[in-house]
Amino acid sequence: MKIVKEFSRFAHEYNRHNVIQSEVAKRLVSMLAKDNYRKVLDLGSGSGAVYKNMTEHHIHFNEFIAFDFSEEMLSLHPSAGNIKKICLDFNQTDSFESYANNEFDLVISASALQWSENLSNVLSSISHLAPEYYFAFFTAKTFSTLHQTAGIESPIHTKESIENALKKYYDYEMDEAEYHLNFNSVHEMLRYIKRSGVSGGSGQLSYKQMKQLMSMYPLEYLEFEVLFVKAIPKGL
Ligand SMILES: C[S@@+](CC[C@H](N)C(=O)[O-])C[C@H]1O[C@@H](n2cnc3c(N)ncnc32)[C@H](O)[C@@H]1O
Repeated sequence: MKIVKEFSRFAHEYNRHNVIQSEVAKRLVSMLAKDNYRKVLDLGSGSGAVYKNMTEHHIHFNEFIAFDFSEEMLSLHPSAGNIKKICLDFNQTDSFESYANNEFDLVISASALQWSENLSNVLSSISHLAPEYYFAFFTAKTFSTLHQTAGIESPIHTKESIENALKKYYDYEMDEAEYHLNFNSVHEMLRYIKRSGVSGGSGQLSYKQMKQLMSMYPLEYLEFEVLFVKAIPKGL
């Protein structure tokens, strides 16, 4: 079922730039079936939205691996005795070579894997790491009207290509959600896109194209489509 969530104008709200990602991390964590894990891997952990939601919901773990290729993001991630920060790129298959089969009992990734260069390769190279996976992917329908108006292609994966990659290695259940985020002007929207790190594409535009886009964009909001997936590796 499709859920549409409207976010009203929080023009000056601190943290507004990642309001959708916050919502996505919250929902992904609310899908977790257990409240106790031994060792968790958070791919593209960023500043810790998954970690924070897990602790807020009293979901316990002995060890939490915050995995991100940005030192800067990892420096914003909470630190604690049971958190290990790993600065590596999930697009490099050797990033996972040092981990044993089922080294983790949970692999989770919120709003990050849409950036994988080859999703199929990434999903394959992590498929031995745990018995349970939870993923939230933004899809190519994110900013769809904006991309259409500008005549550019989304830089991120379509729902179909995500499903094609998933079904090679996992059995999965999927739910999708559509979010709308309102703005006072197209200018503000473009600023948001620059800062949010969700899914650009606007970087492909010249100043002139940008101006044209601002005069032609028909909506007062930006669209986001997110897939929420619970998966287990095939053959388990
Ligand atoms: C939109 S943020 C999401 C952060 C966090 N998971 C959340 O839910 O708020 C995406 C994160 O993925 C990280 N990331 C993107 N591509 C990556 C890659 N190839 N390898 C590792 N981390 C990556 C970025 O540095 C960023 O911190």
